[in-house]
Amino acid sequence: MALIDRIMEKARSNVKHIVLPEGEEQRNVQAAAKVVAQGLATLTMLGDPAKVQAVAQQTGTDLTGIEIVDPAASPKAEAYAQALYEIRKAKGMTVEEARKLVADPMYYGVMMVKMGDADGLVSGAIHSTGDMLRPALQIIKAKPGMKTVSSCFLMECPDKSFGQDGVMIFADCAVIPCPTAQELANIALGAADSARSLAGMEPKVAMLSFSTKGSAKHDLVTKVQEATRIAQEMDPQLQLDGELQVDAALVEAVGQLKSPGSKVAGHANTLVFPDLQAGNIGYKLVQRLAGAEAYGPVLQGIAKPCNDLSRGCSVDDIVATVAITAVQAQ
Ligand code: ACO
Repeated sequence: MALIDRIMEKARSNVKHIVLPEGEEQRNVQAAAKVVAQGLATLTMLGDPAKVQAVAQQTGTDLTGIEIVDPAASPKAEAYAQALYEIRKAKGMTVEEARKLVADPMYYGVMMVKMGDADGLVSGAIHSTGDMLRPALQIIKAKPGMKTVSSCFLMECPDKSFGQDGVMIFADCAVIPCPTAQELANIALGAADSARSLAGMEPKVAMLSFSTKGSAKHDLVTKVQEATRIAQEMDPQLQLDGELQVDAALVEAVGQLKSPGSKVAGHANTLVFPDLQAGNIGYKLVQRLAGAEAYGPVLQGIAKPCNDLSRGCSVDDIVATVAITAVQAQ
């Protein structure tokens, strides 16, 4: 069964409530109807109900069973504003600013998740990654003990000899431009969690570099070596190796030659890229040149699931992201 079908089956087994802040946007409206028809989640859409219904009518979409909430007229807005003020007052936010912000569907949606009125959030069809991430990072924050929110892509390659039946986790491809060694270690642990919870596989984590086990000397290599040490200290049971070149991570003969005896080299299913340029370019190369399916970015290390969409996303991309978010919330 394809990875996304397995995720959808899991989402149906324990249905969660997801908020879509971009409720007036056509692809969100069409995706919402599909999500509910397929039993993947229950939904709240944010926006002016008249505008949401007008889009539904234009597209022949039935929104029966979906809650539509106008943040500007919501009876919960004042409680959310007070809660937001409490969270951000140390950063200089006033109650008036908090009231203004919760009238914005993006902030209202994040507050729904924070206050437990939704289990997760999906947005980004009309917001940039930064504008979607900032409220999530400021309000939901990292999981206790984690500190760093990062992201991964679930990759499903046509060549089933890589990863686990072609399924791999790539991280971080969307959030932290230039991670420190500690942040890179946190990305590795977040990616290991994603491998278990979303792909149902035992992670074998490769800390990628242009060097394998000291074959090159450079500050950038030293950073990956340091991150490998920190990650292994944080989770001594985790199967993790580094620093590895990507061929040593993926190809058994190369892995055993360059990192003999390693349980990860040649068998990695979770790739941790040294920075955002490598990660973002890497997942797009595999998607375009190898014809892999790429699902994400999926935020990891965050206290409650909030996920971003590409502005070029399709209706089916939104449906898949809602299913992934619902599984993260389980
Ligand atoms: N983990 C946890 N908290 C974080 C993180 C993180 N990775 N990054 C920022 N924060 C927190 C900060 O501590 C701060 O909290 P505070 O206000 O309570 O002190 C808050 O979030 C805002 O931090 P800033 O540094 O002011 O946020 P910034 O404006 O730099 O934005 C962002 C952070 C949006 C994640 C930024 O790093 C960014 O734009 N990253 C790249 C996104 C991107 O363009 N990705 C590529 C495209 S996606 C694609 O191709 C699929």
